[in-house]
Amino acid sequence: MLNNKGFDMWANDYDKSVGLSYENNVYPFAGYKDLLNTIYNNIRTKDTGKILDIGFGTATLTKKLYDDNYDIFGVDFSKEMINIAKQKMPNASLFCYDFSNGLPKNLKNEKFDFIISTYAIHHLTDIQKIYFFKLLYKTLNNNGKILIGDVAFYTKKELDKCRQDNIDYWDNDEIYIIFDFLKQNLKEFNISFTPISFCSGIVCIEK
Ligand SMILES: C[S@@+](CC[C@H](N)C(=O)[O-])C[C@H]1O[C@@H](n2cnc3c(N)ncnc32)[C@H](O)[C@@H]1O
Repeated sequence: MLNNKGFDMWANDYDKSVGLSYENNVYPFAGYKDLLNTIYNNIRTKDTGKILDIGFGTATLTKKLYDDNYDIFGVDFSKEMINIAKQKMPNASLFCYDFSNGLPKNLKNEKFDFIISTYAIHHLTDIQKIYFFKLLYKTLNNNGKILIGDVAFYTKKELDKCRQDNIDYWDNDEIYIIFDFLKQNLKEFNISFTPISFCSGIVCIEK
């Protein structure tokens, strides 16, 4: 699993390498732009709002929302990613924090209309994801939405098939979303899954 230093080193090449994987429609970033656009269009149904992006990276999605005048907050643990994002969004509230520890203290009194995360949640174990989503839910305004896009599958069987098909490239350190598992463990939530490509999808939790 990449730590914050690993992401620091990747930061300058990140957009290029993701772009290549997307253009060639291969694991892990097949569907990347479509996934980001789907989340973007979902948010645009509301003209204003406060958004928290978990693991915003180079801010490809967040910058568009920033330009549309949404109030942007973000958490990321890579200083280099934060530097890139800060240049694109000077007035955003960006915090350097490891979200495997929850959310930073600075966000304790904040509530959001949208909490988004793309290609970052796979750094949490399945159990950590459940705890984290419960925490995010508490941080959501009424009528708010959590939108999590990542390498993701409905079932473990689908994940295993994708791993088998991509065995030479598979990243065994990353823990991808299995929607069935989330749904079983978050029964109290209004939760749904939209597949985007053969290896990606968006989990939506609505309040
Ligand atoms: C693959 S990049 C995704 C960036 C962006 N959201 C996108 O869709 O292009 C993952 C990002 O999550 C951040 N990240 C990964 N694990 C993290 C953690 N435990 N705490 C905070 N940030 C983390 C990395 O620094 C990186 O910027």
